[in-house]
Amino acid sequence: MGRIDIICSHLPKADVFADVGCDHGYCTQYMLQNDLCRTAYISDISAESLKKAERLLFKEVAEGRCIPVVCDGLKGIKSCDVVLIAGMGGEEIVHILSESYLPKKFVLQPMKNTEKVRRFLLERGARIIKDFTFEDGKFYDLIAGEVSEEGDSYTDWEYKFGRDNLRSPSPAFLRWVKAEKAKLDMRLLAPAMKRESREELRQKRYELEVILDATEGDV
Ligand SMILES: C[S@@+](CC[C@H](N)C(=O)[O-])C[C@H]1O[C@@H](n2cnc3c(N)ncnc32)[C@H](O)[C@@H]1O
Repeated sequence: MGRIDIICSHLPKADVFADVGCDHGYCTQYMLQNDLCRTAYISDISAESLKKAERLLFKEVAEGRCIPVVCDGLKGIKSCDVVLIAGMGGEEIVHILSESYLPKKFVLQPMKNTEKVRRFLLERGARIIKDFTFEDGKFYDLIAGEVSEEGDSYTDWEYKFGRDNLRSPSPAFLRWVKAEKAKLDMRLLAPAMKRESREELRQKRYELEVILDATEGDV
């Protein structure tokens, strides 16, 4: 499955769905074509990008089932019960959600800084239901969850690596671990480096080794 298919397969049913930073609009097309939402917002900070989704969904826009908005994050969307924010950096995702609101359910696919997204969500009392790494040419993280009364708690390792990755490591996640370890091995070959930096890299490498050791035989 490709990245977009994987994202779509984790989108829950919604009343009002918001695809923030929609660009092409494929995920909203999936929601509307499969009757998974009553109304969908397609939004992007770039009018040029939004035009792609408007072209793809012109029929649904004409019918009023799909509402295009040029805006920063959720600022132009009064309310929605499911939000998708995919293909942006984790810091940008946290910025968007802290500047507006955290909808009842969310599917987030940060390109980097996923740990910051996990920490933000748990600080906000959210419960993370899915948190895993997948591969489609590159490695991607996906987090799906909901705002909940009970909240959730993560260990330091779960914040760093994702809960599902540690509980049931997938072949994709283990390939990511091996690739990261190989990168660290290369960096550690550099002759000149501050002692603290070398220690930090060694610690990261050690953590990856622990994960690989724990899954030896499963791969
Ligand atoms: C790499 S594309 C990802 C498109 C799609 N969500 C996906 O995952 O394939 C990132 C999109 O986010 C938009 N974007 C970046 N920052 C944004 C923000 N603060 N609010 C809304 N859209 C934003 C960009 O204009 C761009 O169209």
